[in-house]
Amino acid sequence: MNQFTSVHDVHDIKQLLNDALTIKESPYALQHLGKNKTLGLVFLNPSLRTRLSTQKAALNLGMNVMVMNMDKEGWALETQDGIVMNGTTVEHIREAAAVMGQYCDILGLRSFPKLVNRDEDYNEDFFSKFIKYCGVPVVSLESATRHPLQSLADLITIKETWKGEAKPKVVLAWAPHIKALPQAVPNSFAEWMCKAQQDGMIDFTIAQPAGYELNEDFTPGATITHNLDEALAGADYIYVKNWSSYKEYGKVLTYPEGWMLNNDKLKGTNDAKVMHCLPVRRDLELSSEILDGPNSLVIHEAGNRLWAAQAVLKQMLEAL
Ligand code: CP
Repeated sequence: MNQFTSVHDVHDIKQLLNDALTIKESPYALQHLGKNKTLGLVFLNPSLRTRLSTQKAALNLGMNVMVMNMDKEGWALETQDGIVMNGTTVEHIREAAAVMGQYCDILGLRSFPKLVNRDEDYNEDFFSKFIKYCGVPVVSLESATRHPLQSLADLITIKETWKGEAKPKVVLAWAPHIKALPQAVPNSFAEWMCKAQQDGMIDFTIAQPAGYELNEDFTPGATITHNLDEALAGADYIYVKNWSSYKEYGKVLTYPEGWMLNNDKLKGTNDAKVMHCLPVRRDLELSSEILDGPNSLVIHEAGNRLWAAQAVLKQMLEAL
């Protein structure tokens, strides 16, 4: 694997899942792969899980790791070409990315969308330029439109917890929030689940209020509804997540009632397991009774971020 920015970079999704579960059994078996190799992790935004799980994954593989909190510790970056840099930006991404590529064998990058200009965010301008100028393989730690390490961990969690004979019904359910959040996690989850559905692994449904439909490029083959109870009927897994509107870009639309998942809403499901990428706002986005109850998979899921990152880094190291 030469880069990891979306499910489209994965040659064989089932092989990647198997790699992750094998690594989980023997985390330190491949330390030779990362010997004398350096991973640089570049964050333009906050993180808990992505930062720690990716660092640990690299250490488990014998790599050296460096972390750069670019937003707090780095020079203010310019991304536009052809302008005189007489404002607040100090270093151009052309030099900054190229220099980081001199020190690292693989780079990870987190760069959230601004949620102001849809085309700018969905063109992944910053990410594309970073990849172009750094000159080494890049793993996404979450971009403007996708969070593939999270989605891989989500699919690993479903694969290892599903004990039924038929395909599980997986539901992505929009949830309330007070802030405008990116579509990266739901876009990416939808993209991975649609691929898993194509491969015959799951059945996939998305439920959101009118106005919160995701970009159709991320949802091919998904069943899409505005009716949460209809979506939850017979569900085996519910992936709870808030996102802001794609159509009225970056906006929080009217605040609909009845979309926060609680135990009452689980009654129509197949005793569904509940997932969330975290961080989560309790009793706003998801009820405490679910988070603290037997149906919650959120900690298990966060734990699997480690094996997702390690499986991806393993395949990237093999391709160096
Ligand atoms: N789920 C996730 O990416 O968590 P962090 O933002 O804390 O890394």
